[in-house]
Amino acid sequence: MNAAKRETFGGRRAAIMAMAGSAIGLGNIWRFPYMVGRNGGAAFIIVYLVAALLLCVPIFLSEGIIGKRAQLSTYGAMDKLAPGTPWKWLGILTFIAPLVIVSYYSVVGGWSIAYQVRALSFAVSDAAMTRAEHSARFGAFITSTWTPLIWHTVFLGVTALVVKFGIRKGIEQFTKTTTPLLFFLVLAIMTYSLTLPGSKAGIDYLLKPDFSKLTGEAMLSAMGQAFFSLSIGVGCILTYASYMKRGENLLATGVGTAIFDLLFALLAGFAIMPAVFAAGIEPDAGPGLIFETLPFIFSSMGQIHPVISHVISILFFTTIVFAALTSSVSMLEAGVAFLVDQKKISRSRATLILFLGCWALGVLCSLSFGPLKDFHILGNTLFDFCDKFSSNFVMTLGGLLFVLFVGWKMKKEDVYDELTCGGRLRYGKVFKPVYFLIRWVAPITIVVIFLSNILIR
Ligand code: PHE
Repeated sequence: MNAAKRETFGGRRAAIMAMAGSAIGLGNIWRFPYMVGRNGGAAFIIVYLVAALLLCVPIFLSEGIIGKRAQLSTYGAMDKLAPGTPWKWLGILTFIAPLVIVSYYSVVGGWSIAYQVRALSFAVSDAAMTRAEHSARFGAFITSTWTPLIWHTVFLGVTALVVKFGIRKGIEQFTKTTTPLLFFLVLAIMTYSLTLPGSKAGIDYLLKPDFSKLTGEAMLSAMGQAFFSLSIGVGCILTYASYMKRGENLLATGVGTAIFDLLFALLAGFAIMPAVFAAGIEPDAGPGLIFETLPFIFSSMGQIHPVISHVISILFFTTIVFAALTSSVSMLEAGVAFLVDQKKISRSRATLILFLGCWALGVLCSLSFGPLKDFHILGNTLFDFCDKFSSNFVMTLGGLLFVLFVGWKMKKEDVYDELTCGGRLRYGKVFKPVYFLIRWVAPITIVVIFLSNILIR
């Protein structure tokens, strides 16, 4: 492989924006608030923060070290850094997993576009609609055969288009504009949300911990959520890091991305929960929170401020669509990079092939809410199976293998060299604890999580 021909990101800012774009997604806006709602508010957030810092950042950095050092995606990177060993098979796992995720993820991405279009046509903030009507409408929409498929195709099509244009012209340009925009949008929504009468209960809920709800399972969910939210364990971060220039500061990029991701999840929580409380709704609404409960909140606001509620509903679904797109792009890119690096297929062809494969699996996932709802794999619909297989199983396994590789297989000097750019950046004090986390804390904790996950089920 001629490494000189491989594209790179323009600089550190571009790499952070792309990685933060990957991290910030449906996980932050759709999953995080309802998980917080179900699992004890601030108590859940505390576990989430600890997991993110002690577990996920080390995994993130491990992926980054491998990708940046090898300048190849997972399969080629493993083969280059540990030639002739079975480590390269991790490249196959991390080829399949992001493609499975992007297939079902783009179904929800498609729902978000559908709701954005509805918001634009005033239907989401329609003041005459009751909560039951919003729920019924959402149920009818996702169980129908054709309409969700159209939006799934649009969502995946846009994703593929960005990936087709490559690193600089596609991913960098797209994420450089949309990631900062996401913060602007969520801040605008939060500002409005915090001014609603009765919103204070929502703030208290996010700040006051209820440890009685923090069961073992809730703690596992917090960790799983942190994995999913930081996009780790499936080679996406590794692939993005492989496009970083050699002298780029990895530690700053990793910590910067984690901070952006956490900040965004909290801002999304403060944008959503105060509005939920202001509308007098229970916070544990579950996965329907975004598509059933919030539209009802927009409708109730619509009775008082029709224009504002209309604008906020548009901003809200725009945020979700762009957040989801910057994540799906990173998943498709991980697959495309494998085909380009290893199979020497052109980027356009690789993108087209994977688009078609993911589209087909996504179609089945979408139909698993309607016509295929009785088709079960290990007791789950296809959509749930894909979600559980990738986020519970592959992400943890991938994360474990990445930290083990960096902590035990790579030479300590090489890890130091990569994290400090050959000693140019002086991290003497920070290197030791980071290396300790990678070598000991992260693997042991992951094994414990893994076992308890199997034992609980
Ligand atoms: N982190 C993304 C989100 O929060 C999802 C994701 C998972 C992206 C795995 C890439 C890889 O929505």
